[in-house]
Amino acid sequence: MRKHRVGKAMPVTLASFLAVVGAVLLWPASLMAESVPRQIAVPPPPMGWSSWNAFSNTVDSKVTMEQAKAMASNGMAKAGYRYINIDEGWWLGERDAEGNFIVDGKAWPALAAGERVGDMGNIVRYIHGLGLKAGIYTDAGTDGCGTVGPDLGPSYPNEGSENHYEQDFLQFAMWGFDYVKVDWCGGDKEKLDPAVQYAEIARAIARAEAITGHRLYFSICNWGNNSPWTWAPGVGGVAADIWRTGGDIVAPIVANTKNADRKAEIKEVFREFDQAVHPEAQHTGFYNDPDMMVVGMPGLTEEQNRVHMSLWAVLGGPLLVGADLTRLSEEALATLKNPEVLAIDQDALGLQATKVAAPGTGLEVWSKRLWAGGSRAVLLLNRTAAPATIPVRWSELGLQDSSPAKVRDVWAKKDLGALDSYSATVPAQDMVLLFVNGSEGPHAKYEMTRVADEHGAAVVRNQPVTFKGVGTHFTVAPIAISYMNPDKTPRLAELRVNGRIATRIAFPPTGGSSGTVWIESLLDREGAKNALEFSVESDPGPVIESISLQ
Ligand code: GLA
Repeated sequence: MRKHRVGKAMPVTLASFLAVVGAVLLWPASLMAESVPRQIAVPPPPMGWSSWNAFSNTVDSKVTMEQAKAMASNGMAKAGYRYINIDEGWWLGERDAEGNFIVDGKAWPALAAGERVGDMGNIVRYIHGLGLKAGIYTDAGTDGCGTVGPDLGPSYPNEGSENHYEQDFLQFAMWGFDYVKVDWCGGDKEKLDPAVQYAEIARAIARAEAITGHRLYFSICNWGNNSPWTWAPGVGGVAADIWRTGGDIVAPIVANTKNADRKAEIKEVFREFDQAVHPEAQHTGFYNDPDMMVVGMPGLTEEQNRVHMSLWAVLGGPLLVGADLTRLSEEALATLKNPEVLAIDQDALGLQATKVAAPGTGLEVWSKRLWAGGSRAVLLLNRTAAPATIPVRWSELGLQDSSPAKVRDVWAKKDLGALDSYSATVPAQDMVLLFVNGSEGPHAKYEMTRVADEHGAAVVRNQPVTFKGVGTHFTVAPIAISYMNPDKTPRLAELRVNGRIATRIAFPPTGGSSGTVWIESLLDREGAKNALEFSVESDPGPVIESISLQ
């Protein structure tokens, strides 16, 4: 989605000219039960494996090949897992006189005839050969985490990409990597500004993509410092795909090392879940990243693995498994592959669940809007130390209370019938995950009217145009945006709600007719008018026709 560049010269048609000089007022309109126009699918969050949690800096070619083989053969690839991500430890900070990476040839040997030792392209070819995708890792600073907190040591400096951004990201793309995670240990040590550094990195990635024609999925890892959800989807005019929202979920648990006895903890899983809740930033292919998972690692019970998986699924979070894939229990593997849970995570609306009710202290109802009209993933979550009954009414989900809704217990794989409401007894520190399908509640639709933008009547092409609107909602509001984009790549716009920090929205192609993408907005003016402003970034921008609030 970052392929779309801002400010390209385009032929001026009357329609595109009007779209550019236009701004939009939203007229309060009647409530209507009609469904919104055709929904457009957005890119789902990534699924894969990452080396850090189970291998720390012992990752090498052998480990990577074994994990890739396991993913290809244990059903995970078939279930949708794709990325094999090599985390810290693959490179120990050495460069040649031209600044190129020097990679240890013993750790990363030749894997086929004609290959050079120490060429990371070897492992990429191996991973691709299994039908999978390959990820790599660096740091935004001069040093990486190898000096700040070497896990299994020894300490190694200069393991970051600062002053080598263009060179390093081009090298990653030339090696054939599909994904890059950029950490912040060195950036933090130097007290750099993450929004500035990651913007520069985004530009280096865009350049590498332009030169090689190879897409590099961009994962920011600065642990939620400086609220990346407010800037990561739009840094430097080129967006990151995912951004971490918290610290590490676990310190690596590496078999046969001094760290072998560490344990994953469910309380850390809950901490990451809570820190990842920024629904207003997660839409149209941009994702909050609650960290790599610990499902299947020592410390969690099988039921806690299911709780963890459910939390990530309703978040719509990246599913990056941290466990050693060659040692998963049958039950943990089944948890990771559960097709209904994966479908919730990967839902094509790309939204995050919001907490819609809290019927008691530590008792919560979370709801994630799904692609099929009237459907929601609902998590009844009991954080307390005792079993408790958690009720849910359909209106809390934006559905009509007056119509029965079909309810399915996802983990039990059981249809519970068409019901007027539901309530379950949930064990202590546990959850029930439901799939609910009912009748959508009414939407308030606001048509757009074009007016001159705030820069005055003489708007020049390529300048941002502001669309202004008003609504009357409070709290997190699901909003469907109806638009047109006849291009083959997404068009971009920034949305500013009530003058607050903007979020970038990617509008995928719609072909010749209108389509709809969904977002969640924090509308904080109860009883007053909420102003929604869309600034068109690409030229021509998406033609925004109307929004529907629920
Ligand atoms: C940081 C990141 C982790 C991992 C380690 C590697 O702590 O948050 O995910 O990449 O660095 O050292």
